[in-house]
Amino acid sequence: MKIAVIGTGYVGLVTGVSLSEIGHDVVCIDVNKEKIKKMRQGISPIYEPGLSEMMMKNSAAKRLSFTNDHRTGMQQADVIYIAVGTPEDPDGSADLSFVDEASKNIAECIDHNVIVVTKSTVPVGTNHRIKEIINSRLMGRFTVEVVSNPEFLKEGSAIYDSFHGDRIVIGAENEHAFGVIEQINQPFNIPIFKTDIKSAEMIKYASNAFLATKISFINEISNICELVGANIESVSVGMGLDQRIGSQFLKAGIGYGGSCFPKDTKALIQIAGNVEYEFELLKGVVNVNKMQQGILIRKLKECVSDISGKKIAVLGLSFKPNTDDLRESASILITEELIKQGALVMAYDPIAMENAKSILNPLVCYASSIEEAVENSEAALIITDWDEIKNVDLTVFAKMKNPLVIDGRNCFSINEMAKNKVEYRSIGRPF
Ligand code: UGA
Repeated sequence: MKIAVIGTGYVGLVTGVSLSEIGHDVVCIDVNKEKIKKMRQGISPIYEPGLSEMMMKNSAAKRLSFTNDHRTGMQQADVIYIAVGTPEDPDGSADLSFVDEASKNIAECIDHNVIVVTKSTVPVGTNHRIKEIINSRLMGRFTVEVVSNPEFLKEGSAIYDSFHGDRIVIGAENEHAFGVIEQINQPFNIPIFKTDIKSAEMIKYASNAFLATKISFINEISNICELVGANIESVSVGMGLDQRIGSQFLKAGIGYGGSCFPKDTKALIQIAGNVEYEFELLKGVVNVNKMQQGILIRKLKECVSDISGKKIAVLGLSFKPNTDDLRESASILITEELIKQGALVMAYDPIAMENAKSILNPLVCYASSIEEAVENSEAALIITDWDEIKNVDLTVFAKMKNPLVIDGRNCFSINEMAKNKVEYRSIGRPF
């Protein structure tokens, strides 16, 4: 099958590369010339395990190519995927301007019938809007069918997830479109769930909102655990053994970040609001997350009342391990607050420091190792549970001025920290 993918962000690039891996001819289109130039040289614009290798393999096999030119990209495509961003508008709703632009480009460039598949996370009704935009410009010259095919990839394991997902959701309006998209996805060997377009669009938002709810729920339980003397880790295990609850996404921490949960939860509140439904539960989820992102600062202040002029180490900056993405990471809020209170912030992250330099307050300093970050510091705050941080030799904390570790991800055993004479605060566990 000949496929064009518009947009080479996380979703677009991973989609394009995975589709080429299962044998389709894929052209990835992006307006960013610099990005296309790099991808043609086999350089992935994002850090994602396994992506570069797969990109190079399929480019060499001539199944995968990159272009800035929409017309060239779509010329022979049977199916065109829209995988552009839907960023957050100031009111929390999804900004559809890139989706609209992609739809207009499709109308201008195609010279044959096509199926347009939406991978971008879009509010209910958007696929119909895409169809209208395209049809109003085509004036009946060609037929366009639209399909909603939301993605459920996680950053950091996106390639793995593409081949091992729990389900592929296809929302279409006729058997022909179902058939073609089913055929494209068959080689992934993942169960396919077919439904109508609006339900497919809603499945994406509802899934992310539900996972965000699980996280905010367990974070609140962890806060209560601290007050009543229970241990969140045992509570999570005990709850997760109930198959109706499930053991995943019950890890308490410093709140969810990333490009999806924060944006999609707010967008779903807006989607509901637009039809005059107040999504009270989800509003609570968002508020709890905001509070939880500040929890390490509150714990630090309980131990060190004045941090002005003191060196504070910040370990981990990305919103989760195995990605260089800092979007909505608690590190942004935490480093900002530390600097506001006059601390000297020394940060370390195994992969995300280059990205961090353009995002975090310019007063943040960067260390080249965990050891350098913690040396002579007053406290170390752990934001991301990278393996390198979880497996660090605990004697490294002896280099601190006063060994105090405030861990937002429960990376270490309380007993081991005590053995190493580290004052240790974590999430939802006794100290
Ligand atoms: C999320 C969803 O998991 C994917 O299914 C979805 O496709 C994607 O959004 C998207 O809409 O594109 P992602 O944002 O990459 O994926 O990352 P997750 O692994 O879900 O983690 C999100 C945040 O939740 C991270 O900050 C993580 O630290 C936090 N989290 C996750 C917890 O605090 N506790 C948990 O138990 C799980």
